[in-house]
Amino acid sequence: MRVSDSIYLDYQASTPADTRVVEAMLPYFTDSFGNPHSSNHILGWKSADSIESARYEVASLVGALPEEIVFTSGATEANNHAIFGVLAGNQTDRKTILISAIEHKCVKEAAYFFARQFGHRIMEVPVLESGLVDRAAFLSLLTDDVVLVSVMAVNNEIGTIQDVAWLAEHAKRVGAIFHCDAAQAPEAIDLDVVELGIDLLSLSAHKIYGPKGVGALYIESSLQNDFLPLVHGGGQQSGLRSGTLPTPLCVGFGVAASIIRKEGIQNRERLQELSFGLLENLRRANVIFSINGDAINRHPGNLNLEFPGIEAESLINMLQPSICASTGSACNSGIIQSSYVLRSIGLSEERASASIRFSVGRFSDEEQLVEAANKIAIAISSISP
Ligand SMILES: Cc1ncc(COP(=O)(O)O)c(C=O)c1O
Repeated sequence: MRVSDSIYLDYQASTPADTRVVEAMLPYFTDSFGNPHSSNHILGWKSADSIESARYEVASLVGALPEEIVFTSGATEANNHAIFGVLAGNQTDRKTILISAIEHKCVKEAAYFFARQFGHRIMEVPVLESGLVDRAAFLSLLTDDVVLVSVMAVNNEIGTIQDVAWLAEHAKRVGAIFHCDAAQAPEAIDLDVVELGIDLLSLSAHKIYGPKGVGALYIESSLQNDFLPLVHGGGQQSGLRSGTLPTPLCVGFGVAASIIRKEGIQNRERLQELSFGLLENLRRANVIFSINGDAINRHPGNLNLEFPGIEAESLINMLQPSICASTGSACNSGIIQSSYVLRSIGLSEERASASIRFSVGRFSDEEQLVEAANKIAIAISSISP
């Protein structure tokens, strides 16, 4: 995808909304704008019906029942709610939460915050060089004190796809609840919460060509009685998440979910070819690089590349406005810190600081990737020591 002069290679940060999604959303801003919780009139009923259809589509994407889907403002809220809901409603003496070392910041921060509030402790499960959870370490930390295990399905920086079924099976064996942050998953893998044994699962619409500002938390039916709301108010969504639902956003999310469910598989093959194509183009342009993360269990559109000896921040700056990609580093109090995900898979500070995530998506094509590789090659040769 090109936006003016820019080639967009940052689909894992956010995807553009599909035009089919936008078209479906538009009438709900102006004509069918009724409050979906207004039960006295036709416009309220229309909004409510459309939201329930969207809920059905989101549920179908992950093999859940519609009543197990709670719309949220995004995956950040869904992840916060998953952790809060379990800890606040915990009726057992269990006090440990296991998360992987490469969870998204919103799982990590929420887990540490709520653990402090509720007197729980967090254990971080290390990952291997591939980004896959270290199974031996996981099993050794998995005691019957664990109340919640939270491991993402697909990593946002290095694209590693975890063996969720195996993790969930072992979590269940010790009686823990299994939460999965699947914000990055629908483009990469098929999801079926029943087959995978997932109790709680988070989704985000803007990672699947839907609008920003909406996501969902799947809460398995039998957990819902002990699961406490994070947002209180009018008791919407069966009291699990109060607040007037944003009809256009939910409708857009529903359409995005339906498109990715129907077209996802063909698109995955295309993404894989495009990613390989970018690597090939870089090699042809004599760019030296290595790939971070797993070679096989990987999001087909993700390429996290290390350019030895190159300062990734400077390279990305040089590539503006031509290429949109990201480094995964964070700026804390004016100091740039390299990605904790890359450091968790064993990269030194220097190697992590030389790495960039490129992610291709539905609107990427070969021509863009040839041009991107050439631009990267020119930029690197101009800053190479
Ligand atoms: C793995 C993962 N989890 C959660 C989030 C947060 O999603 P949202 O932007 O919908 O809050 C993201 C977004 O970057 C993500 O990649």
